[in-house]
Amino acid sequence: MKNILYIVWSEINKLGIPIIDEQHRGVISTINSLHYFILTGHGQEIVKPTLIMLEQYVDVHFKTEEALLTEANYPALEEHIALHKGFIEKIKKLSTDPNRNMDSDLVLKFLKEWWLGHINKEDRKYVPFLEK
Ligand SMILES: [Fe+2]
Repeated sequence: MKNILYIVWSEINKLGIPIIDEQHRGVISTINSLHYFILTGHGQEIVKPTLIMLEQYVDVHFKTEEALLTEANYPALEEHIALHKGFIEKIKKLSTDPNRNMDSDLVLKFLKEWWLGHINKEDRKYVPFLEK
């Protein structure tokens, strides 16, 4: 059971933009690692390092995405950047939470829902602009 992946990356999550898909998958991989540690009883120790790692990785990813969208003159760029900022702020808040007994299951659920929702709803909107 410990080898079961929390999120299985599949074709339906791809946007068809190789560098973006690769980075999106990198985040999924990190979320899956957190899930693995929760299953093995180490969620509490790993949740904050995971959030710190994600904060840095996601920053690199968002910079990549925003540069491509700027280049493509994406009309909803500002709104998209605001969504990214909101996520970074939430992650920062969680990673600096003084609560030692943070609920790693809730963090895991939040990460999955936000990330898959963002990719499949918000990011998908810009695809036609990058394909032009
Ligand atoms: Fe995005």
